[in-house]
Amino acid sequence: MLKNRQIAFIGAGAMGGAMISGVLACNIVEPGQIIASDPRRDVCDALKLKYGVDVTTNNVVACKDSNVIVLSVKPQVLNEVFKVLSGSIESDALVISIVAGAKLSTLVAGLNHKSVIRCMPNTPAQIGQGISVWTGSTGVSRLQNKQTKVILESLGREIHVDDEKYIDMATALTGSGPAYIYLFIEALVEAGVNIGFSKTEAEELVRTTVVGSVAYAMESVENVSDLRAQVTSPGGTTEAAVDFLEAEDFRTIVSNAVSAAYQRAIELGQNN
Ligand SMILES: NC(=O)c1ccc[n+]([C@@H]2O[C@H](COP(=O)([O-])OP(=O)(O)OC[C@H]3O[C@@H](n4cnc5c(N)ncnc54)[C@H](OP(=O)(O)O)[C@@H]3O)[C@@H](O)[C@H]2O)c1
Repeated sequence: MLKNRQIAFIGAGAMGGAMISGVLACNIVEPGQIIASDPRRDVCDALKLKYGVDVTTNNVVACKDSNVIVLSVKPQVLNEVFKVLSGSIESDALVISIVAGAKLSTLVAGLNHKSVIRCMPNTPAQIGQGISVWTGSTGVSRLQNKQTKVILESLGREIHVDDEKYIDMATALTGSGPAYIYLFIEALVEAGVNIGFSKTEAEELVRTTVVGSVAYAMESVENVSDLRAQVTSPGGTTEAAVDFLEAEDFRTIVSNAVSAAYQRAIELGQNN
């Protein structure tokens, strides 16, 4: 479906790079079908060396002859990108934006282009284990929807939504989600060091515990509360820790953190 298609990545930082890695690992496109545009020459050179993709520091050059254009810049530079790209995108090209907060109406008007997908992926995409939530403007054709699905499936799971509000919600839960998990891992490793493990030992123990627990939860038919209860015997060690977390309002802290991310996603949309 993506044979003879050229895909441009406008901005190839953390997430753009993760997506390039993901689509190549899945073999849905060849390196020669990808052109990555980033302002820094050293970033371009590193991408070319790592993935064998074409690179440029000029966004217009990247979009010329590209059938799919992935916008993966920070929201703060979006207006600058609009100025350069408005009128430079082929009329039958598909634009896929992963820019947090940027609404479909803003993207369609800013790029002066009718076929735009708004998507929220996450960084596990680079090993095919991401999750992407997406929706499209009315100008997106059936074929372009299918192409989007193929690209996003190569990055892990994909979920299409009809209502755009779910994209800001997914931004807070799954786009930022890996950072919450890594913060928890960091905190657990520090806790392990505090009770006497070396950093290396604690990292190994914590990473393996997290991977095993998540894999088990994914395979189990039971819900996670039941799985937690199985580890928590009355009067035991786990209960001592869980009671402490509950007393300190761990759930409210997590919920307020996700709400803060959600509010920020909405704010970014209002600024753009
Ligand atoms: N990181 C995530 O986990 C994640 C998840 C989902 C969605 N997103 C979204 O993905 C977008 C990119 O995030 P990121 O984390 O990948 O940011 P990033 O690492 O900063 O990558 C953005 C890249 O765009 C480059 N850039 C700056 N101005 C540009 C321009 N005018 N034209 C082309 N490229 C330009 C930056 O170069 P310089 O560094 O030289 O400025 C940087 O290499 C954001 O909108 C974010 O909301 C990110």
